[in-house]
Amino acid sequence: MKAVVITTYGDPEVLQIQEVEDPEMKEDEVLINVEATAVNRADTSQRKGQYPAPKGASPYLGLECSGTILAVGKHVSHWKVGDQVCALLSGGGYAEKVSVPAGQVLPIPPGISLKDAASFPEVACTVWSTSFMTSKLSAGEKFLVHGGSSGIGTFAIQIAKYRGATVFITAGSEEKIAFCKGLGADVCINYKTEDFAARVKEETAGKGVDVILDCIGGAYLQQNLDSLSVDGRLFIIGFQGGAVSEINLAPLSAKRATVQAGSLRTRSTESKAKIVSEVEKNVWPAIAEGKVKPVIYKYFPLSEAAEAHRLTESSKHIGKLVLVP
Ligand SMILES: NC(=O)c1ccc[n+]([C@@H]2O[C@H](COP(=O)([O-])OP(=O)(O)OC[C@H]3O[C@@H](n4cnc5c(N)ncnc54)[C@H](OP(=O)(O)O)[C@@H]3O)[C@@H](O)[C@H]2O)c1
Repeated sequence: MKAVVITTYGDPEVLQIQEVEDPEMKEDEVLINVEATAVNRADTSQRKGQYPAPKGASPYLGLECSGTILAVGKHVSHWKVGDQVCALLSGGGYAEKVSVPAGQVLPIPPGISLKDAASFPEVACTVWSTSFMTSKLSAGEKFLVHGGSSGIGTFAIQIAKYRGATVFITAGSEEKIAFCKGLGADVCINYKTEDFAARVKEETAGKGVDVILDCIGGAYLQQNLDSLSVDGRLFIIGFQGGAVSEINLAPLSAKRATVQAGSLRTRSTESKAKIVSEVEKNVWPAIAEGKVKPVIYKYFPLSEAAEAHRLTESSKHIGKLVLVP
């Protein structure tokens, strides 16, 4: 099969499409003929050698895909050859075929094309497992998402609105702010021209927000803690602003705040299967109702993965970039 290979760690041009061996399928896995995959920021870190694939994962990039099942392992009963699906992967999506544990496979949400379904698994599983399963965001609560125009952000705005939360976002341009407003975000803050913590305080009469989904890390830690309400929950999923920070712990105690961090990719197969099943139960109906839509900025042929990485790293995009073999 053809796959995008990281020929050596470095800039986007190190990505080259090559002929490689087909993946081996285990007894609890299915083999998928890939219709589409999507780019995640983590792929750019892996390409640079800063985010190695977990043990046992495919050496190829790609944390999600959609496609048609070509074969099923002998311990798989839920899926059959010919089923159209999408899947959360530990790697290997940038290829014509990929094998994946059956518990990480989802049906195509009604009303979504096979190609566009590739844009959902990573964002849906990340946002649902962090903000909802762990941080327990619920109806009537206030939710702040950093990077509102990112793949993660555009999904988080929609699902949080669907679940009845008031959504605050940060973004770095007026074009991105306008897009997030169009998706339903209630309070949009341009972090390049405003202090987001001051604006959150102003908009919440000093009370703060209940849940924050943060992809900046160190650089935002103090401001995030300042923006939390009493019993507030901060979940850190990225370190675009570094991983080191010195903070004042006193407000944490006064607010009984919870700070958590985590990565979806490094979870066990069992844990991913649990998340995927919760996503199917809780998120897929919102997509089927048309309340959560795919936000796809551009489609690229798989052979132009390097170009898609350049665009991701420029941060000019809004939502997801989809690669089609
Ligand atoms: N832990 C996990 O399991 C997990 C899973 C998936 C994703 N993630 C993380 O989630 C983040 C989003 O992922 P993605 O693939 O959706 O990425 P993406 O589309 O490339 O978006 C990255 C976003 O970060 C925003 N950003 C950069 N600096 C910012 C700042 N100082 N304040 C606010 N926003 C800022 C950019 O917005 P502007 O252009 O407006 O600056 C851009 O929208 C990444 O950090 C990724 O590593 C983590």
